Amino acid sequence: MIDTHCHLDEYDNLDEIINHMKDNVMITSGVDMKTNKFVLEVVKHPTIYGTIGLHPENVNDNYEEELRFIEEHINDEKIVGIGEIGLDYHYTKENIELQKEIFKRQLILAQKCHKMVVIHSRDSILDTYTILKELKFKEKVVLHCYSSSLEMAKRFLEFPIMFGIGGVLTFKNEKKLKEIVKVLPLEYLLLETDSPYLTPEPFRGKKNEPYNIYYVACKIAEIKGIKVEEVLKITTENAKRQFDLKPNLW
Ligand code: NI
Repeated sequence: MIDTHCHLDEYDNLDEIINHMKDNVMITSGVDMKTNKFVLEVVKHPTIYGTIGLHPENVNDNYEEELRFIEEHINDEKIVGIGEIGLDYHYTKENIELQKEIFKRQLILAQKCHKMVVIHSRDSILDTYTILKELKFKEKVVLHCYSSSLEMAKRFLEFPIMFGIGGVLTFKNEKKLKEIVKVLPLEYLLLETDSPYLTPEPFRGKKNEPYNIYYVACKIAEIKGIKVEEVLKITTENAKRQFDLKPNLW
């Protein structure tokens, strides 16, 4: 299994979390300078890869320095992409223009150095789509924790895209995401936890951890009427392809 999206900087008991994953792989994402520096260190562990980026909620006055740091380290070993980056209009709409500029600059950097991107998009899916379109974005894209409509998901298929599916899928009242998982071929889906957030059932209320992608896989299997082994096999292949993981490193 590969947890394609987690935040390993948010654990005091990281050794325990890593041991629980055994030989399974984790891709941890930075959101600002501090967490990006953590990512550069933690990828020394054989089963961990990383992405570095400036998250829309972490946009601040220091962004030029933040962007420079990302550019300087984007080709470091086991840094497989830029993320998480994107747009988030949920809490504030005041800095939308700045969010867009910073998102675009990181996408342009990704194009320049041929790196994939991990995108966070909350209440902003149309702008996310429009920006990728404007830039004629050709690198691989992961829309992490996808939460918009099936119709929008289909429009994104014009990009080399995959959708990160996490704990939300297991929530009892979640209908939209279940429909998306049912309709989209397994080839477009990735397992992710967004740990330590969004814990799946049956552990909702506890702190999430990468191992719990197994329960997301079980839910996908149930929705699609296939075996969980098949979900694990195909989503692992998808992750290796989308993040261009080099098998010789693990
Ligand atoms: Ni995240």
